[in-house]
Amino acid sequence: MLNGTLPSFLFTLPFLENVLLGDNMFSGGLPSEFFKCRSLKRLSLWSNQFDGEMNKGSTLPSFIELMNLNHLDLSWNNFRGLWELETMLSSLPNLQALYLSNSGLSVVTDNSTIHVNPNFHTLNLACSKLNVFPKSLRAMKNLRGLDLSGNNIRGDIPDWAGEIGGNGLIYLDLSNNSITGLPQFHSDRLMQLYLQSNKIQGPFPPSICNMITLEYLDISDNRFDGVIPQCIENIGFSLRMIDLGNNLFHGTIPNVCVEFGELEGIVLKGNQFEGKVPTSLSECRHLKVLDIGNNHLNGTFPEWLGYLPWLQVLVLKSNNFHGHIRTSSTINISFPLLQVLDLSDNGFVGHLPWKYFQYFNAMKDVVRKDTKPEYLNTGGMYYSIIVVVKGQQLPFPKILVDYTIVNLSGNKFEGEIPNIIGNLNSLIALNFSHNNLNGRIPHALGNLSQIESLDLSWNQFIGEIPQSLADITTLAVLNVSQNHLVGRIPQGTQFNTFEGNSFGGNLGLCGFPLPKQCEHPSSPQFEVDEDEDESGFTWKMVMLGYGCGTLPGLLIGYVMLSTRRPKWFNAIVDSAEHIMIQTWKNKGRSTYIRK
Ligand SMILES: *[C@@H]1O[C@H](CO)[C@@H](O)[C@H](O)[C@H]1NC(C)=O
Ligand SMILES: *[C@@H]1O[C@H](CO)[C@@H](O)[C@H](O)[C@H]1NC(C)=O
Ligand SMILES: *[C@@H]1O[C@H](CO)[C@@H](O)[C@H](O)[C@H]1NC(C)=O
Ligand SMILES: *[C@@H]1O[C@H](CO)[C@@H](O)[C@H](O)[C@H]1NC(C)=O
Ligand SMILES: *[C@@H]1O[C@H](CO)[C@@H](O)[C@H](O)[C@H]1NC(C)=O
Ligand SMILES: *[C@@H]1O[C@H](CO)[C@@H](O)[C@H](O)[C@H]1NC(C)=O
Ligand SMILES: *[C@@H]1O[C@H](CO)[C@@H](O)[C@H](O)[C@H]1NC(C)=O
Ligand SMILES: *[C@@H]1O[C@H](CO)[C@@H](O)[C@H](O)[C@H]1NC(C)=O
Repeated sequence: MLNGTLPSFLFTLPFLENVLLGDNMFSGGLPSEFFKCRSLKRLSLWSNQFDGEMNKGSTLPSFIELMNLNHLDLSWNNFRGLWELETMLSSLPNLQALYLSNSGLSVVTDNSTIHVNPNFHTLNLACSKLNVFPKSLRAMKNLRGLDLSGNNIRGDIPDWAGEIGGNGLIYLDLSNNSITGLPQFHSDRLMQLYLQSNKIQGPFPPSICNMITLEYLDISDNRFDGVIPQCIENIGFSLRMIDLGNNLFHGTIPNVCVEFGELEGIVLKGNQFEGKVPTSLSECRHLKVLDIGNNHLNGTFPEWLGYLPWLQVLVLKSNNFHGHIRTSSTINISFPLLQVLDLSDNGFVGHLPWKYFQYFNAMKDVVRKDTKPEYLNTGGMYYSIIVVVKGQQLPFPKILVDYTIVNLSGNKFEGEIPNIIGNLNSLIALNFSHNNLNGRIPHALGNLSQIESLDLSWNQFIGEIPQSLADITTLAVLNVSQNHLVGRIPQGTQFNTFEGNSFGGNLGLCGFPLPKQCEHPSSPQFEVDEDEDESGFTWKMVMLGYGCGTLPGLLIGYVMLSTRRPKWFNAIVDSAEHIMIQTWKNKGRSTYIRK
């Protein structure tokens, strides 16, 4: 929490070698003495609030005196100015690592090839407004880590880039640029490869099959097409997380699961994969996240996934799955840690899979901590989902470890909602809409004491809305429209905040907020809350900005808060920059606060 500007005497100490002041709140610029500090070997100022101009007048600072500097880290600051990469590199003969990601500095390259220290190993220039893939990289014969994400690099990456670092690259991040084509990368040691959010076309790069040390592969949000080659099995043993989402791949789901592999996350959503879910996935004993939504998959519910002991997220939405989900009392398939189940928009029929509800232990009795939010990760990478809130699609690059949802909407489920649903008392969202469910809405739904979103619309429910629902203090979104419900709409804190469209299309319902009066005036009176901040419900989504502009460790928070504000909420608001708080107030009003 140290703040203020850096005193110039610091850099006049004759023997000073290491200045490590990262993760504080210093501001201002670097004193000009820094550029004369010959003894300095290591300067690390990452994650502060430095905002000084770094070009002296209009000229580049001279690094000539910094003969011994080998490690320079100015990342995650708000410096101003323009640095030319080649000038820096050629005047710092001992530099081995340069970190300017999100420093605020713009980095340009003059296209020249230069001599670089042969021991130079790490170059991080994320979000530095770089326009071209720097030619000077060619001279970095021992480069191990390269991060050029979030720049404006367009077009094809040159062929020579395939040999960067003498085939010894370990980490390569080119995500979030406008890259259209890639060379064949040759690296025997690559462990992390990030190419997501570009415009890369063509087949799955076959050279990836040779990267037998690869742990993280993300090529999502590109225009890759074709089938995934069989040889992808070769990297199954090393992979921890693979994301091929939002491309144009087709064919069957690739076999990435090998015995004794450690794969924790498979995301294939938004492609054109077809056929069944291969049973080979049961080899992935460590799987936590399986998202194969928005494809052309078919077959019946892959219930054997329930034997995977660590599975937390299962998304099969928007495919052509069909058939009954077994509900017989003899099954013992338990999905012990499942917390996100999305089967929406498929062709499932028959009764709701009540037997499974009995086993979903991760949706029961969860104690939600009021402390720092934790996010669900797969081997260190975060899993993201898109949630629609009041008609808006919001991407959440991370989801909270204790986010729980069951989404069975848009199928052909029939019969009654089993009482056992009340067991899943830690559910945050439940969506049964657009099915053929009937019978009464069970009183037991009132046991879902933490639920924030409940959608039962477009079914055949009859009878009255149980009063127990009005006792749920967390309920922010309710939709029971388009059913055959009758009687008086219950009154209660949350119910007073719902509008008519939560109840529409039920000819027999009466009372507030519907215009239709009930025949016998009710005894309990209610008042509409005027003070939205202190009483009544506010559904707040707290999003920390992400990408260029915030710390990677604090990418995004996703919380739906009740009126009691957890302590960590205040902590985050105070500590992070670029926070966007979107608040949906009861009456649909929205406010955007940008810090
Ligand atoms: C570097 O080369 C690229 C294309 O090769 C060109 O678009 C760019 O203008 C060049 N930049 C400079 C500073 O010469
Ligand atoms: C499932 O998809 C495959 C491949 O698209 C197709 O050949 C098969 O007929 C489909 N099966 C069913 C039952 O729809
Ligand atoms: C489930 O039941 C089957 C047969 O009844 C048995 O082979 C299997 O071991 C059981 N699995 C578990 C996890 O209890
Ligand atoms: C459930 O699935 C539907 C359809 O895929 C989707 O629109 C909705 O956002 C999902 N989530 C919830 C909380 O209902
Ligand atoms: C529930 O799913 C339906 C799609 O079947 C979607 O239109 C609706 O918005 C979802 N409800 C909520 C509250 O997200
Ligand atoms: C609902 O909660 C009450 C009190 O904890 C309990 O007695 C009852 O069995 C629960 N009902 C269901 C269906 O879970
Ligand atoms: C409830 O669902 C209906 C029909 O799908 C929709 O028109 C209405 O806006 C929804 N209401 C709320 C509060 O989401
Ligand atoms: C992608 O890069 C742009 C700048 O080029 C930045 O504004 C944006 O936040 C980045 N997005 C992500 C997800 O990193």
